[in-house]
Amino acid sequence: MGNKTYYITTPIYYPSDKLHIGHSYTTVAADAVARYKRLKGYDVMFLTGTDEHGQKIQRKAEAKGVTPKQYVDEIVDGIKDLWKLMKITNDRFIRTTDKNHEEAVQKIFKKLYDQGDIYKSEYEGWYCTPCESFWTKTQLVDGKCPDCGREVELTKEESYFFRLSKYQDRLIKFIEENPEFIQPVSRQNEMLNNFLRPGLEDLCVSRTTFNWGVPVTFDEKHVVYVWIDALSNYITALGFMSEDEQAYKKYWPADVHLVGKEIVRFHTIIWPAMLMALGEPLPKQIYGHGWLLLEGGKMSKSKGNVVDPVVLVEKYGLDAIRYFLLREVPFGSDGVFSNEALINRINSDLANDLGNLVSRTVAMIDKYFDGVMPDERLEGDFDQDLKKVVMETPPKVEQLLDKLQFSSALTEIWKVISRTNKYIDETMPWALAKDEANKPRLAGVMYNLAESLRIVSILLQPFMPETPEKIWNQLGLTDKKTIDWDSTQNWGVYPAGTKVNKGDVIFPRIDIKKEMEELEKLTVQQPEKKDQKDAVKQKEEKASPDGFISIEDFAKIDLRVAKVLEAEKVEGADKLLKLKLEMGEEIRQVVSGIAKHYSPDELIGKFVILVANLKPVKLKGIESQGMILAALDKAIESGAKVR
Ligand code: ME8
Ligand code: MG
Repeated sequence: MGNKTYYITTPIYYPSDKLHIGHSYTTVAADAVARYKRLKGYDVMFLTGTDEHGQKIQRKAEAKGVTPKQYVDEIVDGIKDLWKLMKITNDRFIRTTDKNHEEAVQKIFKKLYDQGDIYKSEYEGWYCTPCESFWTKTQLVDGKCPDCGREVELTKEESYFFRLSKYQDRLIKFIEENPEFIQPVSRQNEMLNNFLRPGLEDLCVSRTTFNWGVPVTFDEKHVVYVWIDALSNYITALGFMSEDEQAYKKYWPADVHLVGKEIVRFHTIIWPAMLMALGEPLPKQIYGHGWLLLEGGKMSKSKGNVVDPVVLVEKYGLDAIRYFLLREVPFGSDGVFSNEALINRINSDLANDLGNLVSRTVAMIDKYFDGVMPDERLEGDFDQDLKKVVMETPPKVEQLLDKLQFSSALTEIWKVISRTNKYIDETMPWALAKDEANKPRLAGVMYNLAESLRIVSILLQPFMPETPEKIWNQLGLTDKKTIDWDSTQNWGVYPAGTKVNKGDVIFPRIDIKKEMEELEKLTVQQPEKKDQKDAVKQKEEKASPDGFISIEDFAKIDLRVAKVLEAEKVEGADKLLKLKLEMGEEIRQVVSGIAKHYSPDELIGKFVILVANLKPVKLKGIESQGMILAALDKAIESGAKVR
């Protein structure tokens, strides 16, 4: 029979906004693994796609005055173009609006309903539209979504429920018995301790308040909850529950689902429970990687930082971007993305270490041997040590790639590059070239340089789709056998007599000062409206480094005298008092942190100075319409303007 198979997936992306460099992260990582496995001879299935249903998309489309389908079509085209630009080698691209996907989701839902794993009931709870997730009241943090901190909406509707609770014990057991299932290990503990062990509630899996989704076949006013729809993609893309289940039989269970850490919960609880209910095998691994953040927060356009992957690839080249994504941050941890860090990496690792090594090697063979590699081998100390470092590397790179440790794998390759650069310093070819008697030694040095670079260039293939070929062209490597992945196990494969070709510098150095100025212009001159406002605000803030605010700013504050009519303690908060204030004709309710200084009785009848135009906030669920600055024993009259 055929080759061993390897099935890897990325999440399917929401086509809601323009993708930024953070989104490319999962896909580039998955692509590196897919390329590596193909090089190792696996029959690879690499799946990505788009997650197109749900209220969020429907609202965006409405706001734009187009149908949801029109809305997603345009964005999905852009996403496909982006993956093309980034040379992503996905074997399939699934859209959850594909007819065969929708049909399979309907069959999955029906099957689970027929066997009693889905039942009808009523749902009341909080829904976070941006995250498309339901929360119970106790899960909310300060009344907001515990994942993203945004507002949630109270919903009550007739719904179908999935018996998630039924699978809790089996899931815990499975996770405990299969330590490789959730990686990195820290995420495994998080799932067990924060979600599984405290207990699972049944999951609401249908909606009736909007219709942009897969309809429930036996109850048409319901659409399937987007996460049930979305997670199913990993099997519907292979034809699960279709007429042709061949690919499903061949590739499932997946070897790994790569996902960002915020969606590990869906992939390690809901998804395996669904599969258990369907009687299908579970994926072998869910790998939750960290986030790429901008300094000070989330990924968005900001001063001096371009995060649009299309612009980044056009400016710096694809391989530089892919290298940075995979090298800068250990997969699994969060990391900071900045254009400055990117340019520094390009200059040091790519232009200086790798680019120079290629240029120098080819230039020297050209100069000293008319561009034709002589046949000469050396066995001196430096030569032996170089060879040893090079030969140890391919197995290390493989082991690290098997564990998705991209950054460490690249570090190992760069150790070879550094060792080879050092070898040039040690052997000093320019000095050898001065004496004809040293010609054989010089030839052997050239051979070792070219051979080391050959192995490096082969190992770079999973990470960089363009650079290896550029190096092969310059080294004159044309025979497939000399660039085969497994040929990295042997030293001395570079054929003597090969003609090298001097070519362009593979990674030009970037003038960082000039580039940063240009980026700043790019990101500050044409910002979107909101960014512009933020930029102005930042400037204003910067304008008062002494900590003073201007008289104009102070003038915005409306300070009033108010009389305390009632005061009482706030339950569960020992610092807070709830006050009813009379401010002229107006009655105000204010929650104030003065319980340590005044008893409620003491305050009644007193006057306070109130910031009257402060935006109302909720404290312990109670609305506070202003802030108290001071309590006074006497005052002129309530409502009087202090300022
Ligand atoms: O979550 N750094 O889609 P999505 C690293 N449709 N990774 C990031 C990132 C950042 N700054 N921003 C986004 C969804 N990602 C669902 C998935 S799967 C059945 C349904 C990653 O478009 C994110 O972690 O919000 C996720 O892995 C991927 O981009 C898609 O995110
Ligand atoms: Mg997301």
